[in-house]
Parts: sequence; C-alpha cells; structure tokens
Amino acid sequence: MMKSQTVVRTKDAICTIVLGDSRDILKELRGQVDLIVTSPPYADARKNHYDSVSPTTYSDWFMSFHQPFYNALSDHGNFVLNIKDRVVNGVRNRYVWHTIDALCDKGWYSIDDYIWHKTNPMPGYWPNRLRDGWEYCFHLAKTKKPYFNPDGVRRPIGEWAETRLRKLGGNDLARHNSSNDSGFGRDISQWVGKRTVLPSNVISLALVGKNKGHPAVFPVDLPLFFIKLMTPEDGLVLDPFGGSGSTGIAALEAGRNCLIIDNNRNYYEIMCKRILEEGKYEIQRVTKSSSDHLTPPEVRDL
Ligand SMILES: C[S@@+](CC[C@H](N)C(=O)[O-])C[C@H]1O[C@@H](n2cnc3c(N)ncnc32)[C@H](O)[C@@H]1O
Repeated sequence: MMKSQTVVRTKDAICTIVLGDSRDILKELRGQVDLIVTSPPYADARKNHYDSVSPTTYSDWFMSFHQPFYNALSDHGNFVLNIKDRVVNGVRNRYVWHTIDALCDKGWYSIDDYIWHKTNPMPGYWPNRLRDGWEYCFHLAKTKKPYFNPDGVRRPIGEWAETRLRKLGGNDLARHNSSNDSGFGRDISQWVGKRTVLPSNVISLALVGKNKGHPAVFPVDLPLFFIKLMTPEDGLVLDPFGGSGSTGIAALEAGRNCLIIDNNRNYYEIMCKRILEEGKYEIQRVTKSSSDHLTPPEVRDL
C-alpha cells in the first residue's frame, strides 16, 4: 500500500498522522512512546466500514500487535485499551477477557480497569439485558509502577463545600467507619481547605453524535483524561487505530506530541481534516508526503 503522512505542528507539539498498518509503521519505534491510548475494531462490528475480526479469532488477531506495541512503549509507559465484549447468540462472548489474559501471559501488567460510563447509551430493547451504558478502558503497562500523575486529572471540589464545610458539627470531626466493615470510612473535616479532588476510575462522558465521518468515534475527553493522567508534558502519545483522529485532537490540546495511524485511506483523510479543523489549538505548519516505504521521521527524531 502507498503510505501517506501528514505532520501538523502547533506551538507546543507535533502530530504525525500516518496511513498504514500500525504493525508495519511501529517496526521503526523502540521505547519512544509514553502512552498508547486506543480503541481497536471490536469483534464482528462495523463490517460495512472496515475489516472486522470474529470473536473466536479475536485474541490471536490482537496478539499480532503485541510485539510492535511492547517495543514502541517506553519502560515506564502506559497502554489504555478501550473495548467491550460483544453479545453473540444472546450472551456476552468473552473475547476481550481472553485478549487481556493473552497480553498478561506475554508480560503486560494489568494495572486497573477504568470504566467509560456513557451518559447517553444507545436506545434498544433486549429480552435478557438492559441498554449498554459502559465500556472498558483496560490500563496495562510493562512495569507495576508506570508513569502516573493523578494531579493531572484533579477536579474542582464543587460548590457544596463552601456551605457544608463552613460549620462542622461534632459528628463531622471524627472518622466514621463503614458499618459493613468494608474498611472505608469518612472524616468530613479532612475536606476543609481543599479546592480539588481526585476523580474515580469511572469516567462519565456522552457518546459522540454521528457527524465525524467515522462509525465508532470516542469522545475527545476520553483519551484526554488518560493523556493528562499518564504522560509527562514532553510525552509522546500513540493511537495505532486512529479512526477519525480523536486521540490526535486530545494530544495536541494537551500539548503532547502524537503519532496517529490508520490503515484505511478514507479515515486517514477524515482524521487529517478533523485534526486540522476541530482542535482548540493554533496550527503553525502542515507537511504532507507519500511513499512506499514511509516511516514517521518526525517521531523518530523526537
Ligand atoms: C474503533 S475505530 C477507532 C475510532 C477512534 N477511536 C475514533 O475516535 O475515531 C478502529 C480503527 O482501526 C483501524 N484499523 C484496523 N486495523 C488496523 C491496522 N492494522 N492498522 C491501523 N489501523 C487499523 C480501522 O480502520 C478503524 O478506523
């Protein structure tokens, strides 16, 4: 396939957008990537739009990306995989669990499971289940202590604190342990003076409407959350299944360099256009090139 590349420069960062199979493109990288954040094709989904893989062979197919991803990621890098099990013949097929198990067998550590809670799930009726309101974001890494910056995702504490914490009663000044012996407890006085709080591992975001030219777009704020949490300011973000380029928009918004790859020419064109037009950043320069043996030089030189 003739490969194409577009490089977008802003004041703070460079985004390299590449048309090609990510397994090929990543052969050039060794440890430069700080975060892989991506959503691969789900099993047997969107067959009219791009190649999809059956649930029975999904784990084997995904494992063909394991070595390129592992090699590209730095030793303290993070890998966030947004995906969901598919329902086959009325029951959840656990191809996603099998894939995560297979990755862990190859040496990836399963650090945590984040949940993307969809605040506007698709309508529908099924005889044995409700509307599907969430997806996994598996957090994997090459070490048990990868780069992690929770301060990057702190949130304002909220207006409730102003009135609630102004006058504390006797009950508020001591720790109250949970009555079910869970080990959890609360001490209201600990909140005094705090302006921000850490979020939980459940991220509530609405689904994106169908106007991005791609059938499976995730909200820009999803990769943005993980970029802020899991990359240093000069970090490099990779999305090897780039789609409409949401991760590119998020990375440039956060001032991080990024490499965004898709093997479908139509989506490559769509993501170039979207990254150029939709982001909240000022573009300084755009360079385009095509060749049979293209590698992303802008990233290699970082
Ligand atoms: C679920 S979509 C990603 C959507 C993206 N998160 C967004 O917000 O637009 C998966 C993408 O992976 C691409 N893809 C599938 N196999 C690939 C491969 N081997 N190399 C690069 N891209 C691939 C498909 O063309 C598709 O656009």
